[in-house]
Amino acid sequence: MATPDLFAQPIPVPAALEAVSASERIAGLRAELDLHAHRYYVLDEPSIPDSEYDRLFRELQALEAAHPDLQSPDSPTQRVGGKALGQFATVRHRIAMLSIRTETDTEASGARNFDNRVRKELGLTESDPPVEYVAELKFDGLAMSLRYEHGVLVQAATRGDGEMGEDVTQNIRTIRQIPLRLPSGAPPVMEVRGEVYMRRGEFEALNERQREKIAKGAKGEKTFANPRNAAAGGVRQLDPAIAAERRLSFFAYGVGEVTPPEQDGPAFETHYALLQTLKSWGFPVAAQTRLAQGATELIAFHDTVRKERDRLPYDIDGVVYKVNSLALQRRMGFVSREPRWAVAHKYPAQEQLTTVLAIDIQVGRTGKLTPVAKLAPVFVGGVTVTNATLHNEDEARRKDVRLGDTVIVRRAGDVIPEVVSVLLDKRVPDATQFTMPRQCPVCGSEAVREEGEADYRCTGGLFCAAQRKEAILHFAHKRAVEVEGLGDKLVEQLVDAGVIRTLPDLYKLGFASLASLERMAEKSANNLVAALEKSKHTTLPRFVFGLGIRHVGEATAKALARHFCQLDRIMDATEAQLLEVDDVGPIVAKSIHTFFDQPHNREVVEQLRACGVTWEESEPVALAVKPLSGKTFVITGTLPDLSRDEAKDMIELAGGKVAGSVSKKTDYVVAGLEAGSKLIKAEALGVAVIDQEDLMALLHGLPD
Ligand code: IVH
Repeated sequence: MATPDLFAQPIPVPAALEAVSASERIAGLRAELDLHAHRYYVLDEPSIPDSEYDRLFRELQALEAAHPDLQSPDSPTQRVGGKALGQFATVRHRIAMLSIRTETDTEASGARNFDNRVRKELGLTESDPPVEYVAELKFDGLAMSLRYEHGVLVQAATRGDGEMGEDVTQNIRTIRQIPLRLPSGAPPVMEVRGEVYMRRGEFEALNERQREKIAKGAKGEKTFANPRNAAAGGVRQLDPAIAAERRLSFFAYGVGEVTPPEQDGPAFETHYALLQTLKSWGFPVAAQTRLAQGATELIAFHDTVRKERDRLPYDIDGVVYKVNSLALQRRMGFVSREPRWAVAHKYPAQEQLTTVLAIDIQVGRTGKLTPVAKLAPVFVGGVTVTNATLHNEDEARRKDVRLGDTVIVRRAGDVIPEVVSVLLDKRVPDATQFTMPRQCPVCGSEAVREEGEADYRCTGGLFCAAQRKEAILHFAHKRAVEVEGLGDKLVEQLVDAGVIRTLPDLYKLGFASLASLERMAEKSANNLVAALEKSKHTTLPRFVFGLGIRHVGEATAKALARHFCQLDRIMDATEAQLLEVDDVGPIVAKSIHTFFDQPHNREVVEQLRACGVTWEESEPVALAVKPLSGKTFVITGTLPDLSRDEAKDMIELAGGKVAGSVSKKTDYVVAGLEAGSKLIKAEALGVAVIDQEDLMALLHGLPD
C-alpha cells in the first residue's frame, strides 16, 4: 500500500452502487481499509496486495467526493500514513514528511501530464526551454528521516503519519551504509531523508533461513511477504541485534530541516547538487539518478529503468521526477500535503490477485519435489504469470493454499513468482487442504523427507526421468565411473534427442547413433565409444559413488566397498548392518536402504551389469581379519540396549557366529538380565561370560 497511490485520480463510482447505499458502502470500505492498514503498518503482515488496497481506497475517495455530507475526519482518506506503533518514542517532524502524487499511468503520458502541469504552474509557454528535472528511482522500502546535529547522527525517525513518526535510532545505527557522522563542513542541523530497504538477495536468504527454522520446528517464526515488509519489520524490532541481522540498506533522496534555514540563503541551488553533496558525505545515492530536460527525457528515463528493473538487486515500484531548481520548487509549493514539483511514475505492480487452478508437484534435477500453484494468468511485475512456487510442504501448509483459492502472487526480478498469501474470505466452500504426495509424480518411486529437512525427495535417482541428466552426468564423472568426454552439453543433447533414457542406454550407444547427432564429429563419436568401453572396467567404490545415492559421497562409497566387499551385500544390507560401516549414521543408512528398496533402481543396476560394467569383487576375505572371526557366541537374558537380533547382526557382521546353545566350543556367553540355564551351563563349562559392554569392546577390536 505505497502511499502515493492514495492520491491517484479517483475512479468513477459504479451507478448500481450508488443506488444500493452510499453510506453503507462508505462505512464498509472504511472498516476494510482500516483493517488492512493495521495489518500493513502495525503488524507488517498485509493480507491484500497494494494494488487491491489502492482500488478500494480510490473507490472510497470517489464516494466521498460524490457525497460530501458523508465525509468524516477519521476516514482513512484523511490521513497520510500509519499510526506510530506505541513501542517506540514518538518524534515530531520539524518539517513534515510528505508524500508524492502518483501518476497511475504507466504509459509515457505520465511524464507528459506532469511536465504540462509544471509548465502551466510556472507560466511557461511553448517557446520557453524545457524544464530541468531530476529523475530518480522510486525505492520500495520505508521512508526515514536521519537527523544530524553538529555532524552526529542523533535521531532516526520513521515517517509515521507524516507529522509524527517513531524513534528507531538504535535500529538504524545498525545499517552500515548510513554514516554516523558528517564531515566538518556540514550544517549544524541536517536532516537527510531517504528510503530504508532490503535487497532482494537478502530477502530471499532471510526467508530461506526462516523456512529452515520452521522445518526444524521453531515456534513463532514466519516468512515475509516481500522485502518491504521484511525491512519494515526489521526497523521496528525492539532488539537492535535482530534488526542488524536483517542487513538493511539505505538510499538518500532528499533533506528535511537544514540550518541555517534556507531563507538565510540556500546552501544549495539545485536538488541534483544536493544529492551530489549527500553522496560525497558517504550516503548511497542511486547510480541511475539523472538530470533530464523536459518530458521527452523523462519518458526515456522511465523506459530505460523499466527495462533494467528486473536486473536491479532491489525492488522499485516506479520512478520519481523532481523539478531540479530549488527556487522553482519553492515557487510551486504544495497542494494538500503533496509537492507540486514532484511526481511518482509507476511500473506494473509486483503483486497481484489471482486464483489457484491446480497444485502440481515439480521434480527438480536432483529429485527435489516442489509444490507449484497453477494460476489463472495474471500480469505481475511486467510479465504474465501462470505458475508460482509454494516452496515446500511446510510453506504450502502454513499458507494453506487450496484449489480455487484467491491468492496474492509476487514476481520481482528474476526470482520465481511465489504465492504470498491467501484471501481466506474468498475461499470456496469445501476446498481441500493440500497434502504432499508420498510418491514421485514422475516415476512413482517413494518420496521421502528427512528429519530436519524441508524438502521431499524422489528416491528413484537412477530411474526418474526428471533426474536423468543429472544422474548420467554424475555416473560419468571422472571420480565416479568416468566416461571421458561425456559432459553436460552432450548429456543434454543425448537425453533431449531421446537417444538415452536411462543409464544402461549409455552402453547401448553405437557409433552410428552417436555420429548421427548434430555437431558430432566422427572422431568425437569414436572417442566416446572407446571411453564407454573403457569405463566398463571400474571399481566397486566408483560404481557405488556413481549411483548418486543421496548422502553417499566418495568417502562413504569407499567405506561401503571396504566393509561389504560385494555390491549385492550392500544392496541387501539392513539399516542396522549399514550402520556398522565407519562414518555411516542413521540418515545415510536410511538413504542407502531406501535407494535399493526401489525396484527400479535395482533394475538399472542389473542392466548395467548385463551391459558388461564390471569391477573386482573379493570374497569377504576381510572376514579373516574381522575382530570376531572364528569366535562363537551364545546370547542369553535381556541386554540393556540391544535386542537379541541386533546383537546377533552385530556379531555376525564382525565375523563371529551366534549359536543357540552353550557347549565347550562356545567362546563367549553374552549374558543380560534374567539369564537362566545357559548362564549356569557356561559357568559349569568354564566358558567366558561377558556383558553388553564387554561385547561392544570386542566388536570394536579392543582386547578383552
Ligand atoms: S521524495 C516531498 N524520492 O515514496 C517528496 N520519495 O510518497 C518526498 N520514495 O514513502 C519524497 N523513492 O519513502 C522521494 N526517490 C524518491 C523516493 C521516494 C521512494 C518513497 C518515500 C515515500 C513515498 C512518497
